[in-house]
Amino acid sequence: MSKLVRFGVSLEDGLLKKFDSLIRQKGYTNRSEAIRDLIRNELVDQQWRTGEEVVGVVMIVYNHHQRQLQPKITDLQHDYGSRIISSQHIHLDHHNCLEVVIARGKAGLIRELAGRLKAIRGIKHCSLNMSTTAKGIA
Ligand code: NI
Repeated sequence: MSKLVRFGVSLEDGLLKKFDSLIRQKGYTNRSEAIRDLIRNELVDQQWRTGEEVVGVVMIVYNHHQRQLQPKITDLQHDYGSRIISSQHIHLDHHNCLEVVIARGKAGLIRELAGRLKAIRGIKHCSLNMSTTAKGIA
């Protein structure tokens, strides 16, 4: 555990009021916690931009009755071989499936994987959530 350092922040009262109301809505109990998370998010974003190894969670929703959709999704994932470290399939209801694909590698490669999944016809929704091992920031 790193040493905690305190520092002062000056900002306009209107901005602070908005910030306090935002973090209350998000469930933070204090400003320090909220500011720490904001800083970490920015640093993770930067790690994504600078091409360090990152982790991405791609979530897709599709109708499994649609012809040839499932094999297309599987073929595409096989193109990324060992970069995909886990995938999970959940049957949401009679028609719809949710698939969660977790991959690690360069940010560009993960974005490409998510982009190609999104582009498959019949995928109803595709989202990419990005993270890193947070080396040096948490
Ligand atoms: Ni299913």
